[in-house]
Amino acid sequence: MRSGYGRSIFEPLLPLILGRDVSGEVAAVGAQVKSLTVGQEVFGALHPTAVRGTYTDYAILSKDELSPKPASVTHVEASAIPFAALTAWRALKSTARISEGQRLLVIGGGGAVGAEQAVDYTSEDIESVIKGKFDAVLDTIGVPETERIGTNLLNRGGHYMTLQGEAAALSDRYGLPIGLPVATAVLWKKKIQYKYSHGIEYSWIYMRADLEGLHEIRKLSEAGKLTVPVEKTFPITRVREAHEAKDKKLILGKVVLELD
Ligand SMILES: NC(=O)c1ccc[n+]([C@@H]2O[C@H](COP(=O)([O-])OP(=O)(O)OC[C@H]3O[C@@H](n4cnc5c(N)ncnc54)[C@H](OP(=O)(O)O)[C@@H]3O)[C@@H](O)[C@H]2O)c1
Repeated sequence: MRSGYGRSIFEPLLPLILGRDVSGEVAAVGAQVKSLTVGQEVFGALHPTAVRGTYTDYAILSKDELSPKPASVTHVEASAIPFAALTAWRALKSTARISEGQRLLVIGGGGAVGAEQAVDYTSEDIESVIKGKFDAVLDTIGVPETERIGTNLLNRGGHYMTLQGEAAALSDRYGLPIGLPVATAVLWKKKIQYKYSHGIEYSWIYMRADLEGLHEIRKLSEAGKLTVPVEKTFPITRVREAHEAKDKKLILGKVVLELD
């Protein structure tokens, strides 16, 4: 966002409050809300296009965006989980519906992906190191080369899912009224092409609030099956430094901003 990604959506809405993930205590609830209580410890994430984010003392989230915090982790640890985990959930459970025994390839997996086999893309050739085919590919990089590799490694009927859908990039280039319909046309062209050429499903994945998913994520965290390592914390007053450290790849893992 610092370099302008998403400007077609966000520029007219400036100034923004950034931040999507949150872990904290409920300070107040709306009159209709029965599932949450004041004082309860919760975690969750806002929708990707939210304008009033979580870099605040008090954030406003809907009841469908919050679940009780996993009891086994701190607020710092919990706040690193929701957006990343819900994005993976959207791909693997809601879209590809992967089940036990199926094979999944994550292209661009960071530190929190447990794997049967890991490949260092900087020193190894993915195509010669990886044996066999997969039922689903989650491509977090989404460039033509990773798309070619991912789609060729899928079984027929498998799912190729990229996190780099072109809706925002095309809208930034052409403006929303032209960019969004162009993006829809690009997506459908690819879906049809891959169906015929490879017999696979092609999707752009965007994080979405999913209360049921968030509850499952909480259970996985409490069972010790899902951990997102936090590499560094910054006080929120040093947010610029935190962003720059990520931009310059000085910190590889998750960074969490702390409020006093
Ligand atoms: N669509 C959505 O809703 C959504 C949601 C969340 C994230 N995203 C996007 O998904 C992307 C990944 O997010 P992240 O938080 O997982 O980033 P990350 O923590 O930086 O992880 C990306 C990993 O991919 C590796 N990598 C880079 N180029 C590669 C290549 N050509 N082949 C294989 N691996 C490669 C990186 O290694 P190096 O350290 O060597 O570069 C890094 O380990 C970001 O662009 C983010 O904006 C989209």
